[in-house]
Amino acid sequence: SRVVKLAVIPGDGIGPEVIAEAEKVLDAAVSGSDVRFEPTRFSLGAGRFLETGDTLTDADLQAISEHDAILLGAVGGVPGDPRLKDANIERGLLLKLRFALDHYVNLRPSKLYPGVPGPLAEPGDIDFVVVREGTEGPYVGNGGSIRTGTPHEIANETSVNTAFGVERVVRYAFDLAERRRKKVTLVHKTNVLVHAGGIYQRIVDAVAAEHPEVAVDYLHVDAATIFLVTNPGRFDVIVTDNLFGDILTDLAGAVTGGIGLAASGNINPDGAFPSMFEPVHGSAPDIAGQQKADPTAAILSVSLLLDHLGLRDEAQRVTIAVEEDIAARGSAPRTTTEIGDAIAARLSA
Ligand code: NAD
Ligand code: IPM
Ligand code: MN
Repeated sequence: SRVVKLAVIPGDGIGPEVIAEAEKVLDAAVSGSDVRFEPTRFSLGAGRFLETGDTLTDADLQAISEHDAILLGAVGGVPGDPRLKDANIERGLLLKLRFALDHYVNLRPSKLYPGVPGPLAEPGDIDFVVVREGTEGPYVGNGGSIRTGTPHEIANETSVNTAFGVERVVRYAFDLAERRRKKVTLVHKTNVLVHAGGIYQRIVDAVAAEHPEVAVDYLHVDAATIFLVTNPGRFDVIVTDNLFGDILTDLAGAVTGGIGLAASGNINPDGAFPSMFEPVHGSAPDIAGQQKADPTAAILSVSLLLDHLGLRDEAQRVTIAVEEDIAARGSAPRTTTEIGDAIAARLSA
């Protein structure tokens, strides 16, 4: 039998609520098989910071890295909480994990499931994946400010894009497209960001030459937001940098039925480090503790986790159970636990 060591970071706000349901579904998905998940819980996030002053210690990072995979709910407190001014949860915890564990592919699928009410009158078939670069771009923290707070302040935030980093994420996007509808769209802003855009365009052109059966096109990021609303069916695989990918995937979540359904994987494809799976949403302090959060995004993140571990059938079964649950949703609101129970029950049936 196979034992998978899973680091679980429930986090803050609705994080623990959605993770409880995700773990329930994970157990149901593998029950009866010869795979067993062995969870270790890590208390990290705004709550931990307020209690101990720690964000992510070297010991935490070392312990997490000794697992086979990571499941994360959401971290972060109420935006603007003055007590969290020095906590640096986003950079010091979430981005530190993504960078230290070399999660260079931030995989964010978007699919409009039948029966999901969305904001588009005529959505058509929506089924695309954003391959967001995860370790470079404007997120690296390469910058600084001088004369801070004065009328003469100069604040710089430099986007870092290496040939090594761009090539590996572009190759991942093309390999993924080969297994899908064979189309890659590069999204950038090459008309203005000529250096960062230039390296992406040149590397996409070079890798495209090795994939003659994959159709390639390019959109400036501003135009891409138009097409995500007017014709999202035109996309199969989008490859883009860290910041554009962040922005596009919230929009993608919105057009496919909301942030409560959007799943993601922070992948280290080489397997040198554990990959991390998390809903795209945050800790939602406005609805925390009320059983109002939709755990579906966390549950679909479990499907991505299973797939990454090579448990394709189990992953597929979770996705199908979610699809069936979504199709059967009525207008009566259900609690977080009721949704998790219903999806787990479909897997056990
Ligand atoms: P958010 O995603 O937490 O919430 C935005 C809105 O979406 C809120 O109205 C919320 O109620 C709703 N929402 C979110 N998830 C939902 C779900 N599963 N079901 C139903 N409704 C849901 O974004 P925010 O308010 O900007 O951020 C709150 C905190 O989370 C901040 O501290 C932020 O930094 C952090 N954050 C963390 C992550 C992460 O851990 N990966 C991601 C984004 C934001
Ligand atoms: C996300 C979040 C993070 C990001 C923040 C919280 C650092 O918005 O996962 O999309 O920008 O990547
Ligand atoms: Mn985001």
